Amino acid sequence: MIADRIARLEGKGIAVEWARELARGRKGLIRLETADPNFDTPPHIIEAAKRALDRGHTHYTDFQGLPELREAIAEKLEAEAGVSYNPDTEILVTSGTAESIYIAIQGTINPGDEVILTDPTYLIFEPCVMLAGGMVVRIPLIEEAGWTLDVEELRAKAGPRPRAVIINSPNNPTGTVFGRAELEQVAEVALENDLIVLFDMLFDKIVFDGEKMENVVSIPDMKARTILLGGFSKVYSTCGFRVGWLAAGAELVSRLTNTLHLYVSICAGSVAQEAAIAALRGPQDWLKEWVGSYQQRRDLLVEGLNSIDGIRCQLPKGGYFVFPDISGIEKDAYQFAQRLIDEAGVVVTPGSDYGPHGQGHVRMVFGSTSEDGIREAVERMKRHLPF
Ligand SMILES: Cc1ncc(COP(=O)(O)O)c(C=O)c1O
Repeated sequence: MIADRIARLEGKGIAVEWARELARGRKGLIRLETADPNFDTPPHIIEAAKRALDRGHTHYTDFQGLPELREAIAEKLEAEAGVSYNPDTEILVTSGTAESIYIAIQGTINPGDEVILTDPTYLIFEPCVMLAGGMVVRIPLIEEAGWTLDVEELRAKAGPRPRAVIINSPNNPTGTVFGRAELEQVAEVALENDLIVLFDMLFDKIVFDGEKMENVVSIPDMKARTILLGGFSKVYSTCGFRVGWLAAGAELVSRLTNTLHLYVSICAGSVAQEAAIAALRGPQDWLKEWVGSYQQRRDLLVEGLNSIDGIRCQLPKGGYFVFPDISGIEKDAYQFAQRLIDEAGVVVTPGSDYGPHGQGHVRMVFGSTSEDGIREAVERMKRHLPF
C-alpha cells in the first residue's frame, strides 16, 4: 500500500518519535526529547483563542491566512529584519512551520536538484528534500568553533547543480545563531550560484547573552531569492496551536496557496490564527523573562555535562537544546540514548538523525523542563555514566 517515495524515507527524521515511544507509559523519567517549552501559553494568547470560539470564528479563514495576521507578520519582518513584505501577496499562513517547510521544498525543488543542508540540522529537511526528488549535500558545522559554518565547504559544495541552501537559525539541534558575517558569505555564494535560500527562523527570539538573531533577508539583494519560514510554537509556547508562516515572492506565495497549501491544509486553524495575532500584537515583556530562564538552564546543563567524563558540550547561543558529544562513552547515538532511558531514566534524542555529523551526539532539550529537572538529569547521568 505504501508508495515507493515514502518507503524510501524509512528511518529518516524519526529520532524524537523513537524516544517518545520508548518513554511511553514509563514513570519517573526526565523528558528532554521534545522541543516543546515547559511554560504555559501566556494568558492573553489563550484569551484570544477563547474569544474567537465565543464569537463563532470556527469557519475557514482566507486560505492564505487572516489578513490581520498577515499584516502583523509583515510588520514584524519590517521591524526586525528591515525588509518590507506585502501582506496581501507575499505572506502565507500555514498549519505550523512544518507545513511551510514541506510546501516550500516541494514547491521549489525539482528531481535531481541538490539542496545544501548544514550538518547537523533540523531533521525533517532531509526527508522533505528526498520526497521532492532532490539530493542532499551536507556542509559540516565546525563543532570546536561552537558549531559554526564552514564557509569554505559551502563554496566547495556549491557546484553547478545546487538549487537551494537551507539555513536554520537558531539551529536545531546545535543552537547555533549564525552571525552576520556567516550569513553574508551564504548570501555571496547564493548570489554567485543563483541559489534559493530557505531560512527557518522558528526560534528567532530565543537568543542568549543579549544578542539578536541576524536575518539573511536583511542582506542586500537577498529578498528575491529567500523564503522565510517561521511560526509561533517555540517562542510563544503554542506548539499545539499549529500556526506557522512563509514569506516569499508573490508568485511563489500565490502558487503555493493554490496548490500544496490547499491540498494539505486549506487554511490554518481559525481559532489558532486569532491567538497568533494576539501573540504578535500583545505584550512582549514576558519574553525577556523566559529567555533569561532558558539561559540559566542552558548554563546549568552545559556546566553539568562538561563535568562528566567522556562528554563534551558546546555552549549554544540560541534555541533551547544542547548537542553534546557523547562518543567518549558510546559512539552509537541510538545505543547511548536507549541506555540512558533504561538505566538513568533520562530521555534524549539520538543525534545521528540530524545529519552524519550528529553521530556520537545526542540532543537534550533544556526548554522542556525546570532547573530542578536539569539538575536531576545531570545527577542521574553522573551516577550512571559511563555505562
Ligand atoms: C527548526 C524547526 N523548524 C520547524 C519546526 C516545526 O515547528 P512547528 O510546525 O510546530 O511550527 C520545528 C519543530 O521542532 C523546528 O525545530
